[in-house]
Amino acid sequence: MNITIIGLGYIGLPTACLLAQAGHTVYGYDVDAKKIASLQQGKAPFEERGIQTLLQDVHKQGSFTVGTTLKKGDVFLIAVPTPDINHKADLKFVFQAIDAITPLLEDGTLVIIESTIAPRASVDEILPRLATVGKNILLAHCPERAIPGNTLEEMVKNDRIVGGATQEAAKRTAELYASFVRGNIYQTDITTAECCKVMENTFRDVNIALANEFCKISEEVGINVWEAITLANKHPRVHIHQPGPGVGGHCIPVDPWFFVGISKQAELIHTARNVNDGMPAYVVKNLMQYVRKHKIKNPVIGILGVSYKKNVDDARETPASTIIEALCKEKLSFLVHDPYVKTFSVPLSPLKELVEKADALLLITDHDEYVKLVLPKDSPIKFMYDTRNVLPHTFNVPVYTLGNAKNI
Ligand SMILES: NC(=O)c1ccc[n+]([C@@H]2O[C@H](COP(=O)([O-])OP(=O)(O)OC[C@H]3O[C@@H](n4cnc5c(N)ncnc54)[C@H](O)[C@@H]3O)[C@@H](O)[C@H]2O)c1
Repeated sequence: MNITIIGLGYIGLPTACLLAQAGHTVYGYDVDAKKIASLQQGKAPFEERGIQTLLQDVHKQGSFTVGTTLKKGDVFLIAVPTPDINHKADLKFVFQAIDAITPLLEDGTLVIIESTIAPRASVDEILPRLATVGKNILLAHCPERAIPGNTLEEMVKNDRIVGGATQEAAKRTAELYASFVRGNIYQTDITTAECCKVMENTFRDVNIALANEFCKISEEVGINVWEAITLANKHPRVHIHQPGPGVGGHCIPVDPWFFVGISKQAELIHTARNVNDGMPAYVVKNLMQYVRKHKIKNPVIGILGVSYKKNVDDARETPASTIIEALCKEKLSFLVHDPYVKTFSVPLSPLKELVEKADALLLITDHDEYVKLVLPKDSPIKFMYDTRNVLPHTFNVPVYTLGNAKNI
């Protein structure tokens, strides 16, 4: 089948490569000329396990080509960003993609939206737009569930939900995905598929908010939240999530707003978002207490990790940004390190510089590299603040852990 993928980011590119590997003729289109230039040389524009090798394979075979001009396909698969603007899913990029493909649509063309969209977006906004073409276009929504860092494996192994505007659209989409997905593929209507995706990420956000609330309560009552959660999770029907410095990434802190934006019923969801968005300020408040406790004047804070999760280079919506903004407001100096992220909103420094020059270390991301951290004997570090509970307590300086009142 001839497939045109629109948007070659963290989702579009792996999907394109897997479809090309499965024997389809895939053309990738993106508005980012730099990304296309890199892909034309067979170079993946971001780090993701296995993507470089797979890209080179399909590039060599000629089954995956890319460009900045659109080409006709039997299928158009849209994987463009859908950011949250004022608590609503902004469909601007989806509409741009649909407007761009409009002249290329024919009777029977299948249009698949992989981008996460708000419930009813397909029925209320995308279908009416496609209807103006005056042709029998098949529309489906196939939300993506893969985890950054293990995207390729999860894209193949995970179960998928395919929502069709019609049964024929769902069936044809399911057949296409069956060419590379080994998990189960469940067919449903398009609004149910939209809701499933947003529900999945909302479930995670609300549960993380609960863990974060337990974390703050634990500090008040004088216990270690990590110990308490481990013990509570020994209950056969309890699975409390982990607290942390805030929720990041492209999905979890964004998607729950799509429910808040469309329904007044989303009260718990709204509160959970606010709890998680409040964590960076909570971390900075604690950090300032430790700075005062150690009587450090004009401290330099060394920030360990800015990506939103461990061992990946994805820093979108990272709580590190909000924490750094708060440090700037407090007029604190800082040095920032991340072993994976290449460019960030502030300059990044080598780890060596942090351990040699900072007065305190604030661990935001639990990259494996930090678990093995060694401080030089003459390091000026006076304390460490670990928001992920991963640092060993074997240093000769105090290690304070978010949510652990026992070692404060
Ligand atoms: N990254 C994830 O882990 C993940 C997981 C599940 C769902 N999603 C959803 O998938 C969608 C895509 O996410 P992503 O992480 O791949 O985003 P991304 O930012 O990595 O990639 C999007 C790409 O689309 C391109 N683009 C933007 N507008 C375009 C247009 N009009 N025409 C062609 N290309 C255009 C951009 O240049 C970019 O390369 C979003 O809706 C996101 O919420 C992402």
